[in-house]
Amino acid sequence: MGTLDRDKAIAILNRIVECELAGVIRYTQFSLTVEGEDRAEVATWLRAQADEGLKHAQRAGRLIALLGGQAATASWAPLLGGDVHDIDTILRASLRHETEACHADQQLLELSRGRSVFIEDYARDLIVTETMHINQVGRLMRQPWEMPSEACRSPA
Ligand SMILES: [Fe+2]
Repeated sequence: MGTLDRDKAIAILNRIVECELAGVIRYTQFSLTVEGEDRAEVATWLRAQADEGLKHAQRAGRLIALLGGQAATASWAPLLGGDVHDIDTILRASLRHETEACHADQQLLELSRGRSVFIEDYARDLIVTETMHINQVGRLMRQPWEMPSEACRSPA
């Protein structure tokens, strides 16, 4: 088993913290502004994602500490504007968010594979969760959608 690049792992985990915290804000905002026929169902899902994002951010933060690093969120992802109410726009933004989260998890998996069972298992677990979220967003959308080809693909 090779050696894990600890600094790179911490940097990726910090991106995960950043992304998940942005999700907390985005999803909370979306849950408050979403309108339309399926508002209640979509708002419930959005609130659940905000809760889960916070748990994911805290879990990644604990992992950073375990690796001897510091959680250092440097920037915030842009938000949609509080005046967005359209379900489709919100779900498409949600799909982009979930795909972005999955990319960071994928990078962590690639970095840790064969180097740290602990980090590898953590990354795999997150990839499964985010892939399920991507599918859930797709099923909430009224318009035809496809799993983004770049989302949660298996590393070569
Ligand atoms: Fe997610």
